[in-house]
Amino acid sequence: MQKTIGIIGTGYVGLITGICFAYLGHKVICVDNDKNKIKKLQNGQIPIYEPGLDEILGKFHKNIEFTDDMEKMVSGSDVIFICVGTPSKDDGHIDMSYYRQATVSIAKLLGGYKVIVNKSTVPVGTGAWVDKTIRKKYKGEFSVVSNPEFLREGTAIKDFLEPDKVVIGVEDERAREIMLDIYSSIKAPKFLADIKSAELIKYAHNAFLATKISFINEIANVCEKTGGDVVKIADAMGMDQRIGRSFLNAGIGFGGSCFPKDIDGFIEIADRNKYKFQLLHAVASVNQGQREKFVKKIKKIMRKVNGKTVGIWGLSFKPNTDDVRKSPAIDVIKMLHESNYAIQAYDPVAMENSKKELSGINIKFCQNAYQAAQNADLLALITDWPEFAEIDLANVKNLMRHCYFLDGRNQFDPENMDKMGFNYEGIGRKQIL
Ligand code: UDX
Repeated sequence: MQKTIGIIGTGYVGLITGICFAYLGHKVICVDNDKNKIKKLQNGQIPIYEPGLDEILGKFHKNIEFTDDMEKMVSGSDVIFICVGTPSKDDGHIDMSYYRQATVSIAKLLGGYKVIVNKSTVPVGTGAWVDKTIRKKYKGEFSVVSNPEFLREGTAIKDFLEPDKVVIGVEDERAREIMLDIYSSIKAPKFLADIKSAELIKYAHNAFLATKISFINEIANVCEKTGGDVVKIADAMGMDQRIGRSFLNAGIGFGGSCFPKDIDGFIEIADRNKYKFQLLHAVASVNQGQREKFVKKIKKIMRKVNGKTVGIWGLSFKPNTDDVRKSPAIDVIKMLHESNYAIQAYDPVAMENSKKELSGINIKFCQNAYQAAQNADLLALITDWPEFAEIDLANVKNLMRHCYFLDGRNQFDPENMDKMGFNYEGIGRKQIL
């Protein structure tokens, strides 16, 4: 049955959730206190890059309204999703201030039964806190639910509409029925749990996936010492159904707005509860180590050839997004800049965001991948954009001063790169040094 769904926060999670619920036929009211953003959204302009999102908004705009009027959203909605940011503070602690503001605003405006759903990634116990906070101000009936998202940037629409499962942490019958109802047209199984388990499920997912990545990166590092090819090892391991091939791609490590933040967040949650999550400390440190090792390799080669120009392919934290948050490329460029190399970089969509992130750093932003290779002593591939796989390698090689190619994502075949005449090295594969 059609419901009216309120969304607080028009960031990444809020927009995907709102626009996908509109697609499913619900009425959606998205609220944000950033008036500029709301104006743009009202004009059909989406402030994030996510393939397919603008088409859905175009088709289903009649089902969705953008406003800065919180009162209108609260009074008009059956279900209210809190989708505000919970970023990491400089000290690694989770910043819950936007979340608190949203909860207090709801508490002040409630006037009848609503289901209040937490979609943001929040520490275990937040659902109970929301319940207590609202109860202090509002004496009527309401329910609190945890419904974590598992959206990946670049494939978020598919992840929302065709997920492996929908996790719903709910502890009363009325809210359970409403939640099952709003997701009824999604075929995936609905996994029901208590609220605390649902809150931990989200962290457990991201922690496990990040662990898989750091694990395979450690195997890659061993391969670099002993010989052996990490890609073959991952392929074989992936054939074991107990393990699976996904998230076993060795490389320069993970970045983005979720894994780094959620690993720090989970460590902090454990610490606060007097438990030292040893494994996650190692996961984070291996990940940072991958970036540092990559820069060390670049410096070693540059010393060897007395080089000064490094070409960088890829700036976003992964392909199909313009997001550069915690991107390995940004870190690598900052480290290289300290050593005074001339840096020329190209990314298919993340140039504007990189310019902001790297303001004050002298770097040449190139029009295309070839320009980033021109007169370079070394090319470093950091993001495995599909367009790099299609590139005319002979042309690239002719443009370079020295043909050193460090592939931070194992996107190219080492034998083919050898044949093409590159001094090529991937991660955990054949070594050139
Ligand atoms: C992740 C989770 O997958 C998603 O469920 C959650 O809701 C948000 O966090 P996202 O950050 O969009 O999604 O990207 P994801 O595709 O998971 O990749 C994260 C990082 O890991 C990227 O930097 C990627 O390059 C890296 N990665 C991924 C590897 O280094 N190796 C792999 O095998 C897989």
